[in-house]
Amino acid sequence: MKKIITPNQIERQFNEGKIIVSKTDLKGKILYGNRIFIKLSGFTEKELLGKPHNIIRHPDMPKIIFKFLWDFIQNGKEIVAYVKNLSKDGSYYWVKAFVTPSFNGKGEIVGYHSIRVKPTEEAKAAIQALYKELLEIEHKGGIQKSQEKLEQILAQKGVSYEEFVLSL
Ligand SMILES: Cc1cc2nc3c(=O)[nH]c(=O)nc-3n(C[C@H](O)[C@H](O)[C@H](O)COP(=O)(O)O)c2cc1C
Repeated sequence: MKKIITPNQIERQFNEGKIIVSKTDLKGKILYGNRIFIKLSGFTEKELLGKPHNIIRHPDMPKIIFKFLWDFIQNGKEIVAYVKNLSKDGSYYWVKAFVTPSFNGKGEIVGYHSIRVKPTEEAKAAIQALYKELLEIEHKGGIQKSQEKLEQILAQKGVSYEEFVLSL
């Protein structure tokens, strides 16, 4: 069972050049994490391997973002998403994640991997404001309402989700 971690306001820092990597099976269970991924999570490698990736899910993340993520990758597409992750000690760190499916020789999806970099402060500020709004809507009206809101924001800007994320 997932242990309850109380989030705090301490942000974990990492260097700009770092690439944070994890790989999962088809269900999102962690099969691999590189050294910096393990370090930022605050867990040991043993604690992480075989666990669902939501072991580092932060409650400030709107559900709709993960719905988008899974819809993309299960359809064989890659996605870019800004994610606030929760460390074992309650601290957090923001990443810009490139999540992609892995295929076998027959073109079937056999797993997924995520490569993450440090987001700029400007992108972080913009996405934080958006996620706060989406989360509030989600708490009141559920994921359907936050999806409607996100689609409405994108329509107003006249951009797709990908264009929006890449413009930040
Ligand atoms: C390759 C890959 C990487 C992922 N990385 C993260 C991550 O860094 N943080 C996170 O919260 N969820 C990540 N997820 C999504 C989780 O599987 C899960 O959907 C999310 O944490 C929401 O969990 P919940 O459905 O329990 O709310 C990743 C999924 C995949 C396939």
